[in-house]
Amino acid sequence: MSDSHILIERPENHVGVLVIRFNRPEKKNAITSAMYHRMTAALKEANADDAIRAVAFLGTEGCFSAGNDMADFLGFALSGSDEVPAAANFIKALALAEKPLVSGVDGLAIGIGATLHLHCDMTVASPRSLFKTPFVDLALVPEAASSLLAPRIMGHQRAFAMLVAGETFSAEAALQAGLIWKLVAPEAVEAETLALARSLATKPPQALKIARELVRGPRDEVLARMDEELVHFSAQLKSAEAQAAFQAFMRR
Ligand code: COA
Repeated sequence: MSDSHILIERPENHVGVLVIRFNRPEKKNAITSAMYHRMTAALKEANADDAIRAVAFLGTEGCFSAGNDMADFLGFALSGSDEVPAAANFIKALALAEKPLVSGVDGLAIGIGATLHLHCDMTVASPRSLFKTPFVDLALVPEAASSLLAPRIMGHQRAFAMLVAGETFSAEAALQAGLIWKLVAPEAVEAETLALARSLATKPPQALKIARELVRGPRDEVLARMDEELVHFSAQLKSAEAQAAFQAFMRR
């Protein structure tokens, strides 16, 4: 695994912004354990460093992320390990983020590549973006507290369609559902996302922090739902039906 699969940047022309960039386009930015570790560390760094005032998630041209790496899923499933998956620590770090999180999506946003935005405060996406969480098709269950946050944001029907039925949401549908904030042209996604993060980074930090906490609400419920989901997710990961689904993907 290469550190370059997740780039951590502090762009000089966007002072106060930490960028976490998926950079594994040859695998559609699928996320390995090593990539989760790097992102978790970056989110912790953002909490601890007063100079970081906002965090921006970005992908590559035409792809945000195809979600968890399937080979990693299969490896974990076959290992029978009882370790907490690296993804779970990243997901928790998202809930514990103290600085505003913004994201810019151009193209595919699958699995955690889609549910991540439920933790973002503002998401910009291009009209060609697609959001999809095929959890149940992979014999898995929703994660990242999406089973709590998505119905709250989108209402039951749309949350069910996305999280359980595995329906693909177009960028327009994601906008209507309130999963994202605005649509911009593909070539403008990065600039708009960074400008948004920079604009948040210039606001009075204490007021920004309190306002964000008020709008987001208490974390306890979110963390508790993550734990509850993880119990089921971990059990399903090791199930024969999930292994068959991962193997079918690997064999394509
Ligand atoms: N894990 C590991 N590798 C992945 C991946 C994933 N989640 N998603 C894509 N890749 C890899 C493919 O295996 C392929 O690798 P290869 O060139 O070495 O064979 C490469 O990325 C390109 O993917 P490909 O499937 O050829 O591109 P596509 O445009 O036809 O389809 C997707 C893209 C994302 C729709 C399809 O790859 C897919 O369904 N991926 C799985 C998504 C998923 O279910 N994620 C888990 C959610 S919980």
